[in-house]
Amino acid sequence: MCGIVGYIGKEQAAPILIEGLSRLEYRGYDSAGVAVFDAESGSLAVHKAKGRLQVLSEQLHGGADLDSTVGVGHTRWATHGAPSDINSHPQMSRSGKIAVVHNGIIENYTELKGFLQSKGVPFVSETDTEVVAQLIEYFYDGDLLQAVGRVLRRIQGAYALGILCADCPDRIVSVRKDSPLILGWGEGCNFIASDVTAILRHTRRVSYMEDGELAVLTREGIRCYNHLMQPIDKDVVTIDWEMDAAEKGGYEHFMFKEIMEQPEALRRCLSPRIRNGEAVFEDFSLSEDYVKTMNRIYIVACGSSYHVGMVGKYHLERLTRIPVEVALGSEFRYMDPIVDEHTLVIVISQSGETLDTMAALREARRLGGHILSIVNVVGSSIARESDQVLYTWAGPEIAVATTKAYTTQLALLSLLALFLAKRLGTVPEGDFQAMLAAFKELPDKMEEVLSRRDDIQYFASQYFHHNSIFFIGRNLDYALGLEGSLKLKEISYIHSEAYASGELKHGTISLIEDGTLVVALSTCDKLFAKAMSNVVEVKARGASVLALTVESRKEEMSHIADAVMTIPDIHDLLLPTLGVIPLQLFAYYVALMRGCDIDKPRNLAKSVTVE
Ligand code: F6R
Repeated sequence: MCGIVGYIGKEQAAPILIEGLSRLEYRGYDSAGVAVFDAESGSLAVHKAKGRLQVLSEQLHGGADLDSTVGVGHTRWATHGAPSDINSHPQMSRSGKIAVVHNGIIENYTELKGFLQSKGVPFVSETDTEVVAQLIEYFYDGDLLQAVGRVLRRIQGAYALGILCADCPDRIVSVRKDSPLILGWGEGCNFIASDVTAILRHTRRVSYMEDGELAVLTREGIRCYNHLMQPIDKDVVTIDWEMDAAEKGGYEHFMFKEIMEQPEALRRCLSPRIRNGEAVFEDFSLSEDYVKTMNRIYIVACGSSYHVGMVGKYHLERLTRIPVEVALGSEFRYMDPIVDEHTLVIVISQSGETLDTMAALREARRLGGHILSIVNVVGSSIARESDQVLYTWAGPEIAVATTKAYTTQLALLSLLALFLAKRLGTVPEGDFQAMLAAFKELPDKMEEVLSRRDDIQYFASQYFHHNSIFFIGRNLDYALGLEGSLKLKEISYIHSEAYASGELKHGTISLIEDGTLVVALSTCDKLFAKAMSNVVEVKARGASVLALTVESRKEEMSHIADAVMTIPDIHDLLLPTLGVIPLQLFAYYVALMRGCDIDKPRNLAKSVTVE
């Protein structure tokens, strides 16, 4: 929800913090701030501004105005207290001695605030974070680490914290529980950050903090402690992707860049897993016997990752004949799910940090399920808490609206369905080989769709003024419609809904009137005739229909739809992975034509680490 960065070294801290924050803005962008130790006055200097990071950066001339070699910075997505200068982080203790940046939510902050107020501590902001700063000062008697330890025993909720104290300007203290935080190991300098991208310009050597851990950063090194304050050693991993992967590289928007990167991302994700006529999952650790005794599969995820699960259900049930339930991360915990040791729980998450998904994972584990996660961010919390992880290898995804993570998740889940079917003996060898061949064709076919993006841009120019758009489809096309509709609404702010076509006549059709735009998805051959009937049905009520179908059906569809987008014919298993491309492009161009802030849509953040 928010982005944290901290630096201690020999260079000027503020420009490093501001540059680092610019890479974390996808996590929140309603206000930003930095706190640095000002050696001349011997106190902390704090600067905060409501609005995009650019506002703060301009005020501080990119950080050049501040003379200091240690500091923490924050980019905020408001939860407690509206976006304002006062509510921005860093939050300070009453004397200005302690500065805190925080990602997460302190659940018992009202109670703690009441306690501090009863002791005469005044509060200036509406944030839960100020309670942490004030509480540290309340317990502080010259030993910062001990004061932080006492605070941690009292606060409840999720937090990643970066803490500066004016009395000990040679250190930053950081803490993590249920919110991501990494440590960066440099030469004569060290870092904290919510995400690797913030510090990759300075170091590739990072450690992932675990829940309950503390770290004390100095210029010379980083000391880490477990929740009992016992010193621990942390593994240091080397990040092997290039900074370019997290930069726009000449594209106007990250979202467009990431749409265009999909064929390559799929090659990275799939090619090591398809070898010698087999689906190969070296990272798959379930025994043959376990697979044979699996009685149920749950897929748990949020947002677009949930939509991947919706497609996955069709594939897994069809191929393995094992019943599959798809649950929203936010619902799973409260639905009394039927999970036992024979249940495979597939957790899907790009960020690997989504709090609802993480909570569902823990609940599934508590009930005895085996947790297999499909994750993009290496070393993320969900990846680390799973029994096994399949990484999508999509590379860093910066735009808030997911694109390449969605397609890689979907392709990987589809390949997993095929792999399980082979192990269970529920797919004939000929069909298996046909499907495997389709995976190999997928990246090239995707390139073909992308090369025809001008057609989609033209359709967007015809329809971008609509204020309400319906997506309809059956079976796989319904699941695809959910994603197409979400993509459109989240970045263009057009009201949009997705319906299973067969449901139209049960109520929704009353909303169709002259000129209503209906995006009719009809890629599945076996349901083409039924899809045509639904198009006729909405046309009869005055709808304009923009259809999506496969090339071999274009002509037929052109007779009734007003406009037709196409994808190359491909095996059913991969239709949604290919079919989503025109829908992503359509959403992108529509948002562009409406002048929307595509990479940072209002009210949204990339990583949702609060409930
Ligand atoms: C939509 C989008 C979100 C995410 C959702 C889950 O474009 O990106 O709906 O899919 O917030 O995020 P992850 O996959 O990181 O758990």
